[in-house]
Amino acid sequence: MEYSIKHGDPAKQRTDCLVLGVFSRSQLSPLAQQANKASKGYLQSILKRGDMTGESGQQLMLYDVPGIQAGRVMLIGLGKQKDLNRKGYIKALTSAINSLDKGHAIDALWGLCDLEISDIASIADMVRDTVTHAEESLYQFTETKSEVKKSSRPLKRLGLLLHDKRHLKSAKKSLIQGKAIANGVKFTKDLGNLPGNICTPTYLADQARKLARNQDTLKVQVLDEKQMQKLGMGALLSVSRGSRQPAKLIIMDYQGGKPGAKPVVLVGKGLTFDAGGISLKPGPAMDEMKYDMCGGASVFGTMQACLEMQLPINLIGVVPSSENLPDGNANKPGDVVTSMSGQTIEILNTDAEGRLILCDALTYSERFNPAAVIDIATLTGACIVALGNEASGLMANNETLADELLKAGTRTGDRAWQLPLWDDYQEQLNSNFADMANIGGKGAGTITAACFLSRYTKKFKWAHLDIAGTAWQSGSAKGATGRPVPMLIHFLMERCGQ
Ligand code: BES
Ligand code: MN
Ligand code: ZN
Repeated sequence: MEYSIKHGDPAKQRTDCLVLGVFSRSQLSPLAQQANKASKGYLQSILKRGDMTGESGQQLMLYDVPGIQAGRVMLIGLGKQKDLNRKGYIKALTSAINSLDKGHAIDALWGLCDLEISDIASIADMVRDTVTHAEESLYQFTETKSEVKKSSRPLKRLGLLLHDKRHLKSAKKSLIQGKAIANGVKFTKDLGNLPGNICTPTYLADQARKLARNQDTLKVQVLDEKQMQKLGMGALLSVSRGSRQPAKLIIMDYQGGKPGAKPVVLVGKGLTFDAGGISLKPGPAMDEMKYDMCGGASVFGTMQACLEMQLPINLIGVVPSSENLPDGNANKPGDVVTSMSGQTIEILNTDAEGRLILCDALTYSERFNPAAVIDIATLTGACIVALGNEASGLMANNETLADELLKAGTRTGDRAWQLPLWDDYQEQLNSNFADMANIGGKGAGTITAACFLSRYTKKFKWAHLDIAGTAWQSGSAKGATGRPVPMLIHFLMERCGQ
């Protein structure tokens, strides 16, 4: 969809549909009040009849409202004014956009950027959230369907009407950011939703090359198994031994900042299918393990958004990519492998493969002399037990970095919750046969996974995001969410003062 920022009298705007907000007890929002005046009280008189009272979830379409240029006026119920938060706003937005898309209007004017919402800090954030969630509501994954159901007259243009002219400049900038974030989220979702037989490590590598095509600021390098062998990546390569798809290490180098400035490095788990290996997973919902590359996909999406915004920062994306399958050549419980760092690992469970590919990618990241390294991974089922599908798990060896990420999450509604990374948990990884085991005991599975990674991140500031519960949704709405792209981009924007 196309977006624009508008300002002026709502009554005088040419559009197929002017959308306005109404609070409980028929309280009109500021822009709705303005439109009501122009209509000589017509809006208020319609509300008086009681069909619409402003409760959340309500929608009322009016045609040919006197004094209003727009052919239609859509009133959206928002509930009690003082209770309106981001969640409620997005719910109203989603249902309005879906109705508009199904209806006859091709062009609409969103007159709800005048609202004050407690957990949306500014008009700039409001504009960004509006664009990203409007796109979210229209998202459909169609690549693997032979026939696509489409609206006959889809909504094509959405103007965002500002109440206060002074916000024009910042809103326009936010609009560009919002579109870039939405496109990044869409890219991440599309990669996640693709099945494992299409989205292989080689496919991901090709996507990275495609992203860098005709871009001066982005360079891509893909290491094959032979090159990884030379670097001593014995942990990563042990995972792909059981697969016929060759592993890839994808490196994306975006130089948007000052030459020589230390980069932020994002490392994303790119397991294109995780059957568990010899420690085979149970059958139910195993299809969802195509999503085990969503950490990697979030690095792709974040990279694409930075590129689109030309963010003034140096950013490196590293995506170790492999399948994890059972095979005569696959890792076996008890096998000992040597990582690139030289540390040896006893593989007690072949299904704890994410940390095996990540540890070598993290060691590899040392060469970039990073300002900070953040890894993003669908790493542990235990994280879903701990935090459900609301928050990503966050663990870090640096509190400032952790705080920056938590803040970026709160600001975008893409939240994380921090878990402790105390030394006390480390002993669960003791092994009689290697420097460490690849699994801990029964408790604190998310933390012991992070403890494992912490042994490969001593040389830099590091944070780990476990997105097992947040990267995709199960059930009838099964699909990738694009998280934590909004959080990551916000973190990066703050880092470079945007
Ligand atoms: N990719 C999985 C984690 C996962 C499972 C994410 C289910 C989302 C939903 C990971 O590779 C894995 O299998 N982890 C094991 C670790 C265990 C063997 C210590 C797990 O969580 O069961
Ligand atoms: Mn696994
Ligand atoms: Zn996995």
